[in-house]
Formats: sequence, C-alpha cells, structure tokens
Amino acid sequence: MDTHASQETETGYAGPSARLAVEGRATVIAVANQKGGVGKTTTTVSLSAALAQGGARVLLIDLDPQGNASTGLDVRISSDEPSTYDAIVEGLPIAQAVRATAIDGLSVLPSSLELAGAEVELVQAMARERALARAVEPARAEHDVILIDCPPSLGLLTINAFVAADQLLVPIQCEYYALEGLTQLMRTVNLVEENLNPGLSIGSVVLTMYDARTRLAQQVVDEVHGFFQDRAYSTVIPRTVRLSEAPSYAQPITVFDPESRGAEAYLALAEEFATRLGIAAFDAKRATRVAKETKAAEIAAIEAAQDADKRTGDEA
Ligand SMILES: Nc1ncnc2c1ncn2[C@@H]1O[C@H](COP(=O)(O)OP(=O)(O)O)[C@@H](O)[C@H]1O
Ligand SMILES: [Mg+2]
Repeated sequence: MDTHASQETETGYAGPSARLAVEGRATVIAVANQKGGVGKTTTTVSLSAALAQGGARVLLIDLDPQGNASTGLDVRISSDEPSTYDAIVEGLPIAQAVRATAIDGLSVLPSSLELAGAEVELVQAMARERALARAVEPARAEHDVILIDCPPSLGLLTINAFVAADQLLVPIQCEYYALEGLTQLMRTVNLVEENLNPGLSIGSVVLTMYDARTRLAQQVVDEVHGFFQDRAYSTVIPRTVRLSEAPSYAQPITVFDPESRGAEAYLALAEEFATRLGIAAFDAKRATRVAKETKAAEIAAIEAAQDADKRTGDEA
C-alpha cells in the first residue's frame, strides 16, 4: 500500500511521553496540523463543547485569524473589541478578552483578522515565541483544559501554540495524502521541544472525515494506527453532512444535533481524551444527558414561541 507515507512510518512515532494533568492546573492542548481542511477547527469546537457539557471548565483559544472556531460558537466581535491579538501582541490579560458561550463551562478567546498581522509584528518582539505561553499561564488556574485552534501553517502563531502547550492533538484526514506533511510537523515539534518547550510531544492523533464506503479510508486508519500506536485515538470521526452543517448554525454538533453520528463520535472522543489526560471533572454520562436536554429545551422553546404566535394570530 502507498498512501504517500513518509519514511518514518516504518519506525513509528517516538516523541516524549505525554505529561499528565496537574491538580488545579489546566492541561493545554494545541490542535495542530499545517494542512488546511483536515478538521482542526471542527475537532476543537466539538471536543471543547462535549468536554464542557460533561462538566469540565474549558477555554478555547482561537489562534486562527479566520476565526472559524469563534463564529462556530456564535462568538462574533467587532474590530474594537479585545481578542487573541490583544492578548499576545499587546499583553492584555486573557480574562479581559474571554467571552462566555451558550454552553455552560465553555468560554472562548475570540480571534479577529487583526491576528494575521501578529505573525509580522511579533518578529520584532522580545521572546516572540513565548507571547501566548505568557498570556495563557494565568488562565490555567481557572480551567480544567485549554484547547488552542491553530492556523493551517507552521508560522510564528503555531510556534507560539507549541510553546504554550503541554502537548499536541493532531487531526488527520482519512485521505490519500493523509501522512504527507507529518514529517515536517514532527520536525517542528522536535525543534520546539529541544529549544523552547522541553517535553512537548504529539500527545495524540485523531482520524477525521472517515468514509466507511471507501477501502482507502480503512487503509489510512490502519496505517496511522500502526505508526502512532496507542497515541492514535480509537474513536474515528466519520464524515457526515450534519458536521459540515453545524458551523452555519453557529452551534457545535453536540448542540446542533446531539443524536447524530458526528455528535456521538465527538462525545466518545471527549471521553477518551478526558480519561487519557486525567480530567476528573468530566463525566461522559452527564455530557450525553446535557447535550440531549439542551436540544429538547431548544425545541420546546421554539414550539412555545410558535404556539404563542398562533394564539395571537387566532385572536386577531
Ligand atoms: N467529519 C466531518 N464531516 C463532514 N465535514 C467535515 C467534518 N469535519 C470537518 N468538516 C468540514 O470540512 C471543512 C474543513 O474542516 P475544518 O474543521 O474547518 O478544518 P481545518 O480547521 O483543519 O481547516 C469545514 O467545512 C468543515 O465543516
Ligand atoms: Mg481551522
């Protein structure tokens, strides 16, 4: 089989072993892959939501100037409101820029297009690779987990995420070129580990957009699991229409359609993730229950509004 794997797939990944959670200190995970469209933002948003619905205190940091994670959670800011840019370029305390979301326990540090300029502006700055790490530090005490949605590049913003993070979660799309580019990603992780953030590793990988109808998808799953061994999550995220629709409703999948296959997959991923990282605050049963109750309440509210409309219509 040839899925354009790198030479290194022969030997397997051997980065430092993952750090365990420390009581009272959030674990920081960078969701990264320099390829665009592999499911980074979908995974960051869906996993954050599922973890929060299960009782964890979650902060999502939107580090992509496109801001898809922010808008995917219905957090939209105007250009004069504080964002990730202010936290890393201007040194604004994160707490002054963080927004609540519709989900209890989930907050977001929103991004803006301004952030695209940060790559350039930071080049001049002292300790330019550590700007995000410095900003994130005070937020560790108030959360159980902090997830960073990285932009699709290995530029200075992503390096900042690698320095701030305890480990990486790498989404890999089930497609022909799945492993291409991972060599470059691993080289960057090694460089950061040696020079800036000792102990950093690819803590885990998750396969996304799995299509059971193709043989190739199963080959990619086998190959990635063979290479990353137990660092690959056994939960594989299916390709579903509902997952691709959720962002246009500005809802994570576990709110948009909690009984869909995509929601079930991300709830299962949250359970594996929490177990692996030792996030004691997370309860998988609670996550499923809260997701269903939230949807039921939303439907009831819509029906009540329709009834009220109908009554005023009848009276007129
Ligand atoms: N499992 C999935 N099934 C169907 N569509 C998906 C799935 N995961 C992501 N998508 C869609 O694919 C596109 C790219 O996903 P995204 O999460 O934005 O990737 P990235 O952040 O890596 O660029 C988006 O339009 C998203 O809605
Ligand atoms: Mg993205």
